[in-house]
Amino acid sequence: MAADAPSPATPPPWAWWQRGVIYQIYPRSFQDSDGDGVGDLAGILRRLDYLESLAIDCVWLSPIFPSPMRDFGYDVTDYTGVDPLFGTLEDFDRLLKALHDRGIKLVLDFVPNHTSDQHPWFQESRSSRYNPKRHWYLWRDPGPDGGPPNNWLSFFGGPAWSYDPGTGQYYLHQFAREQPELNYRNPEVLEAMRHCLRFWLERGVDGFRVDVIWLLIKDDQFRDEPVDPHWDGYHPHGRLKHIYTANRPEVHAIVRAFRALLDEYGERVLIGETNVPNDQLVQYYGAKLDECQLPFNFQLAYTEWQAPAVRALVHRYYAALPPGAWPNWLLGSHDLPRLATRLGSAQARVATLLLLTLWGTPTWYYGDELGLTNVPIPPEQVRDPQALNQPHLADRLGRDPQRTPLPWDGSANGGFAPPGATPWLPLGADYRERNVAAESADPRSMLSLFRALTRLRRATPALQVGAYAAVESGAEEVFAYSRELDEERYLIVLNFGGRGYRLDLRSVGAGARILLSTGLERCGRVPLGSLELAPHEGLVLYVEAPRWSATTERHRPRTLP
Ligand code: GLC
Ligand code: MG
Repeated sequence: MAADAPSPATPPPWAWWQRGVIYQIYPRSFQDSDGDGVGDLAGILRRLDYLESLAIDCVWLSPIFPSPMRDFGYDVTDYTGVDPLFGTLEDFDRLLKALHDRGIKLVLDFVPNHTSDQHPWFQESRSSRYNPKRHWYLWRDPGPDGGPPNNWLSFFGGPAWSYDPGTGQYYLHQFAREQPELNYRNPEVLEAMRHCLRFWLERGVDGFRVDVIWLLIKDDQFRDEPVDPHWDGYHPHGRLKHIYTANRPEVHAIVRAFRALLDEYGERVLIGETNVPNDQLVQYYGAKLDECQLPFNFQLAYTEWQAPAVRALVHRYYAALPPGAWPNWLLGSHDLPRLATRLGSAQARVATLLLLTLWGTPTWYYGDELGLTNVPIPPEQVRDPQALNQPHLADRLGRDPQRTPLPWDGSANGGFAPPGATPWLPLGADYRERNVAAESADPRSMLSLFRALTRLRRATPALQVGAYAAVESGAEEVFAYSRELDEERYLIVLNFGGRGYRLDLRSVGAGARILLSTGLERCGRVPLGSLELAPHEGLVLYVEAPRWSATTERHRPRTLP
């Protein structure tokens, strides 16, 4: 199906979450305003010019709710408040308004699968077996040997069950023991969560990214999970096949209930953290497209970085999309090693060009626009519970290295926190050279590339919503495709390898103009019959007098009736 990928099936007008670029801020590490070493809402407010300069359309904020911070906000004690570390509800309202004034949307990170063990709901639930909130969480009697009720595992190491001596039962937690999981078979829980969503929708937020959405419902019989014979040995949690703790069919009714609520408020977006294989991923759009508009697609972050593998996954994904579903892509997050660490700085640029020109909404992780790399964290400074609970695997599983403060300039603390403050995690050793100020002044920097790409995308409807068509490049290491809208055709050519090429791309058109190159040094007319491509280079070209193949003709959407 290489040359025959489907085109966008949704008719215009396209929604903001289809056209725009989403930018994830990890609030602890963006900008500290009060000198406690932790980023905060007032800090983000100070950096709106920066966000605007990135030409992004939506900010996704990792959790800002009150939390004991055992998992840095993914352990919530109050879903309708702001943790004092980050500021107040008034700060939040100010930030939301200021973003909206600049045409930027705001998406919150919603964590419905588990609360903090300090949440009043759990405090009640654990107070007695007969408490009305007992069945808001998942309590089970000990197994026959007095141990955990079954073999389920925590992502953060060890069993997914902890014993509560007060009431003589175990409760479920697939993350830290301080993150007890809610029972979505109890309708009161769903209602309580919908109430919390309403609170933020009424305040005007534009949507939610829903944490671990694929885990929300567990097997009602609590059956043991089978051993996975294909386990790659990487993450201990992968030892079992998670057929009873993840992706249960009943989860879709819960997702629909969230979505129905958002739809009451007009054009809001429901994003799912769907860290699952392709065939399951596409189910989170919903049988009637009534679940997530954007079930997050992690495949580019996990694939082997070779042109044939990436092309194949792109086509597999497009082909698997239900009719009318809108694709999306991401390269980084607070749970993944830094993009530049995974791919190296040259291919990080190629990947950025790919992300911002593929068909589908891109999501970007703060700091990747500077080419930040994982920052080594000395053992005594490790904060991430996934690393603290599994110290022997900390190098592999620790997530602190990708969560370090954003360096704004070369001053003390990189301008992230006032001089004299102690940032909660160390800045990268290279922050004096690699920071926003330095890269803004360098016309060839990664930051300049990111800005050039987002601006080009914003100015070019074909790159946002145009049809995708594969292009045969004739070179194994080169992935090429076009984006088309109305009478315009744009050609993207990406060299995943370290050698240069001269390509014959006359099937697309006779000539073209380079609009942007990953090195930010090439522009002007080029012949498509012998297109020079440097090692690790990516190009965006405007095709002059395009040739339309039968396939591209068929898929070409037109904005005019
Ligand atoms: C999600 C979050 C991750 C967190 C986990 C538990 O995967 O992205 O950071 O630790 O859920 O909430
Ligand atoms: Mg602060």
